[in-house]
Amino acid sequence: MDQRKLSCLNAMGITVWQSRAAGNSPQQSVEWARTSPRVVEAKPALASSGDDLVSVSDTDLPGLERIVSICVRCGLHQTRTQTVFGVGAPDARLMIIGEAPGADEDRMGEPFVGRAGRLLNVMLGAVGLSRGSVYIANIIKCRPPKNRDPKPDETARCAPYLRRQIELVRPKLILAAGRVAAQNLLATTSAIGRLRGQVHKEPVSGTPVLVTYHPAYLLRSPAEKRKSWEDLKRARGMLEDRP
Ligand code: URA
Repeated sequence: MDQRKLSCLNAMGITVWQSRAAGNSPQQSVEWARTSPRVVEAKPALASSGDDLVSVSDTDLPGLERIVSICVRCGLHQTRTQTVFGVGAPDARLMIIGEAPGADEDRMGEPFVGRAGRLLNVMLGAVGLSRGSVYIANIIKCRPPKNRDPKPDETARCAPYLRRQIELVRPKLILAAGRVAAQNLLATTSAIGRLRGQVHKEPVSGTPVLVTYHPAYLLRSPAEKRKSWEDLKRARGMLEDRP
């Protein structure tokens, strides 16, 4: 591992152990400096581009956020201002998943803080949910240049982070906002119009998923707000069902 990466990880409180037996081989194990540090199984480091330097499967949300903050798994790290991890109640019953940070989010480090985010807050409020009571994240954690769609290799490399967020928050319901979020989350190419109106399952965790339009789309097509309102009411209803 190069010296810059090593000092960066050390500064984050992550101790990287290089196997003596393996000499300069890529075998290494990673120990997280946490409240009760424990050693993570040795596993091969992948390419030197920063792939899988650390395992995400043993982290809590703050630890995962630290890992994400120094992620260089895809090219988007070269153009981002900062990563945009996720925000909200760590035990939220509803998790809202958008596409990717835009310019405002890239600047602020928080998802959905621009115009679309303000509309999202209003929509949540309209069904009696506050922004602070839900958990909000995106399919990818870095802004694509000029807000282009995320590329398949970017979503694939970022996917373990979102999967771990879902595993840790354990929401009762996921609301996928927009085509990109829905198609990536559900591993489908179906059009959003077909995905709306049904209860899907996130393939890894089995969490129920509802699909709705992206708030940025609603800003451009206000006539569709009524359908999103129906989606949110349905989400609200599902959250109320016990257990
Ligand atoms: N659009 C998204 O999909 N996510 C954000 O965080 C902001 C805008």
